[in-house]
Amino acid sequence: MRLDVLTIFPGYLEPLRQALVGKAIEQGRLAVHVHDLRAWAPGVHQSVDGPPCGGGPGMVMKPEVWGPALDDVLAGAGPAAASAPLTSAAPHAGQLRRDEKAGAPPESSYAGAAGAAGDDRPLLVVPTPAGRPFTQELARRWSLEERICFACGRYEGIDQRVLDDAAARWRVEEVSIGDYVLIGGEVAVLVIAEAVTRLVPGVLGNRLSHEQDSFSEGLLEGPCYTRPRTWRGREAPAVLFSGDHARVDRWRRDQALLRTAARRPELLAGLDLDARDRAVLEQGESPEG
Ligand code: ADE
Repeated sequence: MRLDVLTIFPGYLEPLRQALVGKAIEQGRLAVHVHDLRAWAPGVHQSVDGPPCGGGPGMVMKPEVWGPALDDVLAGAGPAAASAPLTSAAPHAGQLRRDEKAGAPPESSYAGAAGAAGDDRPLLVVPTPAGRPFTQELARRWSLEERICFACGRYEGIDQRVLDDAAARWRVEEVSIGDYVLIGGEVAVLVIAEAVTRLVPGVLGNRLSHEQDSFSEGLLEGPCYTRPRTWRGREAPAVLFSGDHARVDRWRRDQALLRTAARRPELLAGLDLDARDRAVLEQGESPEG
């Protein structure tokens, strides 16, 4: 997978070089190119914004800057051709060797699938508080993309004509990471890029761990425990030491149901609950302990 990010603050994207995403870069499963939007801003002042048409507060990002920037990123031309990919912040060679021994696939080409069937336009993601919600389901779908470009707006946002015009060449998705307002799209890109790339085949070592993620079955994940069995007088649940995997699985599902009912009851409405699930919710506790 290849990610391009257009931003006036390239330094904001440095965290992508760390941890799991950094490791994916190092393994060749992911390439990240960060482009400074000001490279497309003409004049000595390199201004990227102007006052909103019709008046009002804030500034709007200019189409004459964004249009050519997106065209060049798509074509790998102009200033976009000069961008070096991000490198991983830390060497993970030892880990890489261990993964290979464990049968992980070799360094991959950017294996991916087109978005909608027959539509080979790459994906252009525009984070904005006015977007539709970014969800785990979108993360799962986007993890199959070959290429995603992120356009980071600042101020009041990007002139709408940029996105309308880009739709001829890109699948444009305006998304929000939550009902609050950030000062720009960069932090949202960090969130989205991490949620997506951890699902890219081969990036997360243990496939089961994201099959059991919160949201992957529409439920929040329940509590988790490690040793010691007793800590500050608090016991980890006995069922987890029973050695009975079926019981442990049932207990985990019960905890997920109970937590979802307490914290996000609206998520339960869309689920296919069986009689046992409903009984657990009615009783407010798991029969497994
Ligand atoms: N930019 C500013 N606020 C945002 C949000 N909540 N989600 C995505 N992008 C944003």
